[in-house]
Amino acid sequence: MSLNVVILAAGQGKRMYSELPKVLHTLAGKPLIAHVIAAARALRPTRICVVYGHGGEQVREAMQDPALAFARQEPQLGTGHAVQQALPALSDAPVTLVVYGDVPLIRPDTLQRLVDACHGSVAVLTAMLDNPTGYGRIVRGADRAIEAIVEEKDATAEHKRITEVNTGVMALPTSRLARWLGRLNNDNAQREYYLTDVVKLALNDGVSVAAVCVDDFSETLGVNSRAQLAQLERVFQRRCAESLLDKGVSLADPDRLDVRGTLTCGRDVRVDINCVFEGAVTLGDGVEIGPNCVLRNVSVAAGTRIEPFSLLEEAAIGERCRIGPYARIRPGTRLAQDVHIGNFVEVKASDIAAGSKANHLAYIGDTTIGCNVNVGAGTITCNYDGANKHRTIIEDDVFIGSDTQLVAPVTVRRGATIGAGSTITREVAADSLALTRVKQAAIPGWKRPRKKNRGQA
Ligand code: UD1
Ligand code: CA
Repeated sequence: MSLNVVILAAGQGKRMYSELPKVLHTLAGKPLIAHVIAAARALRPTRICVVYGHGGEQVREAMQDPALAFARQEPQLGTGHAVQQALPALSDAPVTLVVYGDVPLIRPDTLQRLVDACHGSVAVLTAMLDNPTGYGRIVRGADRAIEAIVEEKDATAEHKRITEVNTGVMALPTSRLARWLGRLNNDNAQREYYLTDVVKLALNDGVSVAAVCVDDFSETLGVNSRAQLAQLERVFQRRCAESLLDKGVSLADPDRLDVRGTLTCGRDVRVDINCVFEGAVTLGDGVEIGPNCVLRNVSVAAGTRIEPFSLLEEAAIGERCRIGPYARIRPGTRLAQDVHIGNFVEVKASDIAAGSKANHLAYIGDTTIGCNVNVGAGTITCNYDGANKHRTIIEDDVFIGSDTQLVAPVTVRRGATIGAGSTITREVAADSLALTRVKQAAIPGWKRPRKKNRGQA
């Protein structure tokens, strides 16, 4: 069935105390409204229209997407008035679904259930709450059919005892919508044009009103403050952790893991506490991630272990590697299998072939390293001359002594050895030893400098 979706996002979000429009605040690394758009997209609508408000130009810019329509609502005269602004952008699809841009956890199947309940009538997504304060109440008649939705501010004491509430998500017959919205008035406590008043207009026209009750109320929670945003982030992360556990991933603590993107795991992956995964991260079979690691757009092949406190970005890590602790893998790094990158080693835009190791305190930038190379502690590629970056090439089976500087562009041929403490500025021939070490001097009986006596008799 073809479908319109209207996403209401014109509210000011005053309680965020922010320069940023509320719906652009992020949950799991993505703007709130992007979550709602993704849920709406899953229903394959013919049109999605976002209603934005004053100061919301940023929303429009941030969500640049040719498939989205935008309607500006200024001033904001209520939810009914907001939907009215979207009318010109809608297609003649039979159903129009209204959702809020600040309700990021809504699930596609819940939206679909509501759309399915619509056929010709109005369908309202409701919830049963122990404490319904603040919400519009679902008023049902003697036959249990919905008669009206009454806002908290307009509610009588009797209404306030009703525990079934309007979540705000509604599906409506598009062909009737314009007429109903045009007939709304603002004769209520808030002097707003309430979308919820459509219920009465529908009943007057002999159109029935159906309710679909949401199973998991957290799905319909909105964000009005930073505290609520933090709370929903935890709900989202918990969902994510549970789905990983269900798929057979071991998590040391499902409450101490943050996924801000998509994390794809093979079999028998283990993730220790306080890890953050951003963008697209893929972990192969048997990968182990130690505590306090951050991986951003990284693929890690089977059998690799990432030791604690490592940061990896935009990189591809091969099989059976050992990275960290305290390793920094920067964008453009590709490691083949069995590579070891140890503590305080930084690797940037480099290719390292199988079996090579840089175990301690090194900087490898813009470098190609062959197989079975040993990079000694304190080795640095001097890849930057202040204006340009240059490449270092280290061929197979090279041994680089500790504290070596490789001044790029420079090539070290296969099997060469570099003595510790060397500064290499020219090509090193295959199977040779290169060293630039200053001879050791010895001054016997050397007296160390002493502190001068000050003001002593
Ligand atoms: C609304 C419902 C209420 C429901 C509650 C659920 C109405 C009249 N009331 O109340 O029944 O229980 O949501 O949270 O619909 N918005 C606009 N333009 C406006 C006003 C609102 O775009 O002029 C947007 C807001 O950005 C927000 C959403 O509509 O995303 C809901 O607005 P809000 O003011 O929070 O509605 P409530 O008073 O909470
Ligand atoms: Ca609200």
